[in-house]
Order: sequence, then C-alpha cells, then structure tokens
Amino acid sequence: MNLMITGGAGFIGANLVLHWLRHHPDDLVVNFDALTYAGNLGNLEEVKDLPNYRFFRGDLRNALEISKAFSEHNFEAVIHLAAESHVDRSISGPADFIETNITGTFNLLETARKFWGDELSKHRILHVSTDEVYGSLGSSGKFLESTPYAPNSPYSSSKAASDHLVRAWHHTYGMNVVTTNCSNNYGPYQFPEKLLPLLINNCTQNLPIPVYGDGENIRDWLFVEDHCEALDCVFHEGDTGETYNIGGCNEWKNIDIDPL
Ligand SMILES: NC(=O)c1ccc[n+]([C@@H]2O[C@H](COP(=O)([O-])OP(=O)(O)OC[C@H]3O[C@@H](n4cnc5c(N)ncnc54)[C@H](O)[C@@H]3O)[C@@H](O)[C@H]2O)c1
Repeated sequence: MNLMITGGAGFIGANLVLHWLRHHPDDLVVNFDALTYAGNLGNLEEVKDLPNYRFFRGDLRNALEISKAFSEHNFEAVIHLAAESHVDRSISGPADFIETNITGTFNLLETARKFWGDELSKHRILHVSTDEVYGSLGSSGKFLESTPYAPNSPYSSSKAASDHLVRAWHHTYGMNVVTTNCSNNYGPYQFPEKLLPLLINNCTQNLPIPVYGDGENIRDWLFVEDHCEALDCVFHEGDTGETYNIGGCNEWKNIDIDPL
C-alpha cells in the first residue's frame, strides 16, 4: 500500500511513521509535511534512508501541492495528522488554525476525491482529531462518541470543523473515512511548548513552573505509542464513517502532575 501520512514530522506523526515502518514494512510511507515550527525531520533520522520511506515537503493550504504528491505517489490511503495544534497559539493567532485545520482538510478531501474518482470507497482516509472537540472534562465521567461537540478554543473549534467536513464527505460522496478523537498524548519528540515537556524542562533548569488558571483543569493522558497502536487498529478494523474515541483512562488535574 502507498500510504500518505500528513504531519509526519510532528510529534504524533513522527511516532506514527516509525510505528508504521516497523509494523508494515511492505507499505510505502510518504510523509507529507510543510515543516512549520512544529515539524522536525530530526525525529525521523533513523528511517530517512529506508527504501519504503519518502518525505514530501508540501502545504495543505496549497491544493496544487497535495495534487502533486498524489500524482507522484498514487496514494491508496491517507492518515491525516497535519494541523496547527497548540491551544495558546490558537488564542493569540487563530488564522493559521482556520487555514490549515479547516481549509487544509477540505483541500485534502477534495484532492483525494478527484484522484480516487469512482473507486472512492476502496480507499481509506483516517482523520486524526482530538477529544477537545467535546469541551472540558468534568471531575467524573468520560467523553463518549455520542457526547455533543462543545469546542472552547480556536484550536478545538477548527478541529471540530474538520471532523464535520470529513463526516460530510462520507455521507455526501461515499468517501471511506474514519475519525479518531484522542486525549492528550505524551512521549518522545513532543515540541517543548506543550505542557509535559515544558514542565520537565523548567524543573530540570530550576525555572518556575507555570500553572494555567487555578490548575484544576482535568485532562486524560495517553502514551503516544499507545495512540499509534490504536490508530493502526482503527485504520485496519474501523467501520467506515465511524468515529472512535481513544483515551488512556488516566485523568489528572494539571496541578497534580509531577513530571519528575
Ligand atoms: N498532541 C496531542 O496531545 C494530540 C491529542 C489528540 C489529537 N491530536 C491531533 O493529532 C495531530 C498531530 O498532533 P501533534 O501534537 O503531533 O502536532 P504537532 O504540532 O506536533 O505536528 C503537526 C505537524 O503538522 C505539520 N503541519 C502544520 N501545518 C501544516 C500544513 N499547512 N501543511 C502540511 N503540514 C503541516 C507541522 O509541520 C508538524 O510536523 C493533530 O491533528 C492534533 O489535532 C493531538
């Protein structure tokens, strides 16, 4: 299978590329990534020369670049992770989130539809999203796939919009899609602006530890390699048009996290 992974130079994307090459050595993995501040090809040093791995520098905001990648590699499936992903940045500058997460997903869906034509249902797109589309986690309970959407930030609202586009392309055009909504990930290759690497860096450098609000926010945490295994499972076994929540059953108040 020729597989396009968008955002493969980012945190989860790089872990997924490594996972895929390890577990599916017969597939060709093409990492389509714009290399924004969050993308780092150093994450993929160990696989860069493998014959079944390619990097394609492209921007989802530019439909022609997506078409070029499809023409060159004849993709049979896509796992879509590329996004602007940092909530704080979405508050200070939401435009990039609208352009990449919404327009970029639209460009990807339309390009795939054009290339796959009558064979749309034979090719799968796995859309990787977040549980933040459901809003804030209360002190008890969990998000279910049936939980109403209640995004609270420009980031989560742009991801929610992309989830709705993916759903609509399935219902309207018969596209073979699955969507996953995952909780917070931790593990190797995470950009240091995110909560856990930031806390660890500050602790090791004797810097003050930031607390967001009163620190009472509750988040569920999942090890990134477990997320990759779940994505692999949903990609191969998920029912078309379905959404699957992925979590670690590992809920913490921010204030209670001890990174060391
Ligand atoms: N990090 C988490 O805890 C978490 C949890 C649940 C879901 N998700 C979702 O998983 C996906 C990956 O998250 P992450 O934490 O690895 O993100 P990240 O910010 O670490 O990486 C994003 C990657 O996308 C690329 N990218 C950004 N804009 C692009 C564009 N216009 N065109 C092409 N490439 C572009 C970047 O260069 C980068 O390599 C996102 O869709 C995110 O919403 C993340």
